[in-house]
Amino acid sequence: MSESNETEKRPRVAIIAAMGRNREIGSNNDLMWHLRTDMLFFRDTTMGFFVIMGRKNFDSIPAKYKPLHGRVNVIISRNPDFAFEECYTCSSLDEAIEVAISNGEEKVFVIGGGQIYEMAMQAGLVDEMYLTHVEADFPQADVFFPGFNQLEWQRESIMKVQADIQNEFDFEIVHYTRTK
Ligand SMILES: NC(=O)c1ccc[n+]([C@@H]2O[C@H](COP(=O)([O-])OP(=O)(O)OC[C@H]3O[C@@H](n4cnc5c(N)ncnc54)[C@H](OP(=O)(O)O)[C@@H]3O)[C@@H](O)[C@H]2O)c1
Repeated sequence: MSESNETEKRPRVAIIAAMGRNREIGSNNDLMWHLRTDMLFFRDTTMGFFVIMGRKNFDSIPAKYKPLHGRVNVIISRNPDFAFEECYTCSSLDEAIEVAISNGEEKVFVIGGGQIYEMAMQAGLVDEMYLTHVEADFPQADVFFPGFNQLEWQRESIMKVQADIQNEFDFEIVHYTRTK
């Protein structure tokens, strides 16, 4: 982060992601499941907040849902010309967080994809994670959630859902809070 803002309090950074048993999160720039209850959880949990995402994740969102409504969409890209109506484009995660600080945000969500999750974890910026663990393997996956040490996180189960007509697979949503 730039020197001028070092004394400013950064917002809490939360990751929200869904993954298969092997941390699979995507294939061919798309999700690999239909989980309506998880989609609603994602919408309700992120509503009103800054949502920070990679350009590929933004591309993967169907046109009718873009930008994600009721949230400030922040897209990270190396392309300075990338632009989408009502969205911020930033060249780094630090810059995205600077924008959130300028706006007085107390919490932001990093919503993927793989490169952006990795960037946030590597930077040690993540305070909490809402992870949906999908009870299935996805051998076609080409993007994965970064590995993390379970011992550094306090785990609280939020909900367990069994497969039904609206949810293709069993899954559990877990809230992780960093302990160190
Ligand atoms: N299961 C889940 O919860 C979940 C959530 C979100 C996404 N996904 C899936 O994840 C996949 C997309 O993830 P991904 O890893 O391929 O891409 P991504 O993280 O969404 O976006 C990658 C892009 O971010 C920009 N970027 C990356 N590093 C950067 C840096 N250091 N500085 C500036 N910009 C940088 C680049 O954009 P430019 O190329 O424009 O420079 C890069 O191409 C899709 O399959 C999607 O469906 C899954």
